[in-house]
Amino acid sequence: MLELLTILADGEIHSGAEIGEKLGITRAGVWKRIQKLPGYCGCGIESISGQGYRLKSRLELLDEHELRSLVAPGLKLLVLQEVDSTNEHAKRLLKQGAKLDIVVAEMQTRGKGRRGREWCSPYGSNLYLSYIWPVTDGMRQLEGLSLAVGLAVFRALEELGVSRLGLKWPNDVLVGNKKIAGVLLELVGDLSDQSHVVIGIGINVNMQESSSRIGQPWTSLGETLGGFVSRHKLLARLLHHLGEILQLLKTSGFMCLREEWQRRHLWQGEMVTLSSATCSIAGRVAGINERGELGLETNEGLSYFAAGEMSLRMGSDS
Ligand code: BTN
Repeated sequence: MLELLTILADGEIHSGAEIGEKLGITRAGVWKRIQKLPGYCGCGIESISGQGYRLKSRLELLDEHELRSLVAPGLKLLVLQEVDSTNEHAKRLLKQGAKLDIVVAEMQTRGKGRRGREWCSPYGSNLYLSYIWPVTDGMRQLEGLSLAVGLAVFRALEELGVSRLGLKWPNDVLVGNKKIAGVLLELVGDLSDQSHVVIGIGINVNMQESSSRIGQPWTSLGETLGGFVSRHKLLARLLHHLGEILQLLKTSGFMCLREEWQRRHLWQGEMVTLSSATCSIAGRVAGINERGELGLETNEGLSYFAAGEMSLRMGSDS
């Protein structure tokens, strides 16, 4: 599959004969692989009668050399072709005592979303990143972290020109009502001793089709901006904003980001239902506090809720 993708990556038309010759397979074999391609890379493919095949959008494979030039000197970057999950991989390495800062992959075979969901991770078309953040100030350093990371993603996408962008508590990034990016934080180690947060970020970049069912409306940067988007450029802007926001969070706390976060919150003042595995509560969104907890005005008055495994839905039906 990878060889086939490398041939088609330029977005030009390639004949079945040419592909077959390069891969050492028959034209029928080429056709079989072509049919599996959308599920593998999330790209549409056109079959042009009498000429050959062409990807609907060109594909830019991650260039390790270029990525290194985008990362601040001293940061240790790992670029993988295929991995179960960049977060899982980072956690394994941290447990072995490895020093690393950033893991990116072309593809995840078991990409993880929040609340045990799958994160659709086809080859070469999206950004899958884990950023490792050492915890030096205990619990205090984690307050508002998940919301702050969502804000960093927001800022990066806004800079690329995405409009109708908004946040949904705790850290979904949406375009209109369609999800474009998600954040999954995982703690490794003991807060009283040495620990790290693995900040997992997934951004739909050029994905056009998904092989697995995505249980909510989604979009990609390519669709929103109307063309191909470079993952290298996106990563550079994301790392810039992430670095800036994490530094601010560490020195001044979440309070200094709270107002900006609330301005970006799409569901501010709306009737919502907040649910966990065991209960759900309906109320009106009253904003967030200095720890990033969500305020809900319910029949019993104002209560604040920590993100944890909670999820938010529009409307008051439970
Ligand atoms: C969500 O459910 O919104 C969170 C999605 C997080 C996906 C990213 S992709 C990189 C990292 N590795 C994973 O397995 N998940 C996160």
